[in-house]
Amino acid sequence: MGKTITICFTNNKGGSGKTTTCSNLGAAMAQAGKKVLLIDGDMQLNLSLAFFPENWVLEQAKGEKNLYCAIGKQEELSGYVVHTPYENLDLIPSSTLMSSIEYELFTKWQREFILRKCIQKIKDAGNYDYILIDAPPTLGGWVMNILCASDRVIIPVEASPWGMFGLANMFEFLNEVKQITPELEVAGIAVTKVDTRKSYYKQTMETLYELEDIHVFEQIIRVDSSVEWSQDNSIPVVEYKKSSRSAREYTRLAEEVMELCQ
Ligand SMILES: Nc1ncnc2c1ncn2[C@@H]1O[C@H](COP(=O)(O)OP(=O)(O)O)[C@@H](O)[C@H]1O
Ligand SMILES: [Mg+2]
Repeated sequence: MGKTITICFTNNKGGSGKTTTCSNLGAAMAQAGKKVLLIDGDMQLNLSLAFFPENWVLEQAKGEKNLYCAIGKQEELSGYVVHTPYENLDLIPSSTLMSSIEYELFTKWQREFILRKCIQKIKDAGNYDYILIDAPPTLGGWVMNILCASDRVIIPVEASPWGMFGLANMFEFLNEVKQITPELEVAGIAVTKVDTRKSYYKQTMETLYELEDIHVFEQIIRVDSSVEWSQDNSIPVVEYKKSSRSAREYTRLAEEVMELCQ
């Protein structure tokens, strides 16, 4: 197989659609025949919950086969992969213990590159087309690890006044990360949770288009209650209700991302 491209989803603002975008892009890419590995990098376990019921996710989080254990032991990640119910789509679950990861990384040698080293063998094997990493809503040493392990970053931005606030911090942080991993590229901004009945979203779009050298994906994701129902059922919306507006939008966004990131 060919090259594996790692894409992470980061934004220090919580609720900006990182996990929903990561899970649905992964599922849509898998539907398109790509082999995809999802990595849940957030102690909130939402990416794991997007595919598995709560009991399973909590059991997994308490056990040994999760990202927290792998990082603690600095072990390569192949042994931590679980299959999702969907073809071509695997996951490395998270743990609530990830809450202490910043503290634990602090004393480690080359602490920015621990995740990168743990992923390397899977990348080199080339069995996956894409590795998608869901990040927590922070900008610290752990998100630095996620960015240093990635080839590209997608920034989901909620089309709301506070969705834009803090974006400057995100870009400042990205510039710092680029000093240690110059090969990292911003793939673009994905605009999420758009309510087209409200005129405000147009202002968000205008502000984003004015940002220099930043690509904004053409396909926006609008607010759709199917997203919430799908998450309530631990099924990505592109599988839960293929005919829904958000499923079609995520499928189209996945096509854009695959076109750009190859
Ligand atoms: N297109 C959408 N339509 C409706 N609700 C959405 C949509 N996208 C995300 N949400 C909801 O918004 C909340 C935040 O989304 P999430 O993906 O968890 O953001 P983040 O990972 O950035 O914190 C979740 O409750 C999710 O169900
Ligand atoms: Mg999240």
